[in-house]
Amino acid sequence: MNILLYLLGDNITLPKAEAKGLIESYLENKNFSEIYEKNRLYIFSCEKFPFERMSMAKVMCEFIAHGENLEDIAKKVASQISGSFRVTSYSTGNFKDATLERRFGEIIKKHNENITVKLENYENEVMCLYTENLYFAGINKNREKFLQRIPSNRPFTVPVTMHPKLARTLINLARVKEGARILDPFCGSGAILVEAGLMGMKIFGKDISEYMLHGCRKNLDFYGVQYGTENLKEGDALKIRKKDFFDAIVTDLPYGRSSFTTNRNLTQLYNKFMLTAYKLLKEGKFAVIVSKDGIDYDFYKFKFAEEHKVRVHGGLTRRICVLKKE
Ligand SMILES: C[S@@+](CC[C@H](N)C(=O)[O-])C[C@H]1O[C@@H](n2cnc3c(N)ncnc32)[C@H](O)[C@@H]1O
Repeated sequence: MNILLYLLGDNITLPKAEAKGLIESYLENKNFSEIYEKNRLYIFSCEKFPFERMSMAKVMCEFIAHGENLEDIAKKVASQISGSFRVTSYSTGNFKDATLERRFGEIIKKHNENITVKLENYENEVMCLYTENLYFAGINKNREKFLQRIPSNRPFTVPVTMHPKLARTLINLARVKEGARILDPFCGSGAILVEAGLMGMKIFGKDISEYMLHGCRKNLDFYGVQYGTENLKEGDALKIRKKDFFDAIVTDLPYGRSSFTTNRNLTQLYNKFMLTAYKLLKEGKFAVIVSKDGIDYDFYKFKFAEEHKVRVHGGLTRRICVLKKE
């Protein structure tokens, strides 16, 4: 299958890393190859791509064709759809084509008399992106809607609550499939656990604050996420007693600002936590650790895989490290 992603533009490295993390989550993706990459367009071929899990893409398509000649592309699109369709277009970079939707729709229709144009309740949404004097076409794939879960729409929210898009991206960086055991040992209001649960993973959480845990349960229940009550407990993340148990650890460490922390200094807490995380994780699995940028910590025996930065506001940048237990 060929996939086209038009990635979000607010972070340079994270959207592509999320896509690659998702591709690597599925072992059957041995035949992965890149087709095109420029101006936030990322096109590749792989056996399986779970569109519903991807968060940092503006457009996601099953890719059909690209080139300079719209007629040739329309012919290929027309041969692959049936029933009704509409065209939605995007121009990227400095390229503009104001009449693209109408023109492309007319040419597609010309090549297949059995299909009809419908602007609402259509069966296929044909996407056409224009950049670098090239047209890219594909069939739109449904995307997850995040609005319902943005912090202001959650029953319980605190200033440190993470946006669902970022939470989902972090899980996808951990290269896990449905059914995997995923731990957030500093779970706070549960943004990461909600997304992991909705993606079909078995969730485990801990937080030192009963207030936060109460809010976390409220959020999980509100979004219909199933969890074992035994798996969500109040307590110190450094004292979780399990060995080689989790398929992923995805967590947002305390910043010592508005989140509740013990009196230990943050570096010490981060360093100690790395030892615990290493013990908890199964071999060959990933830990995705978000920390306050500028506070360094030791990766212990973990192998460093990748790093990203996300600016939250003037005074706070989050550092995301992806680490592997080999
Ligand atoms: C940055 S917040 C996590 C926010 C979370 N991602 C969310 O979306 O709400 C860090 C959390 O770590 C918790 N915490 C601090 N020290 C802890 C410890 N030693 N063990 C477990 N949790 C701890 C705090 O109560 C806080 O909820």
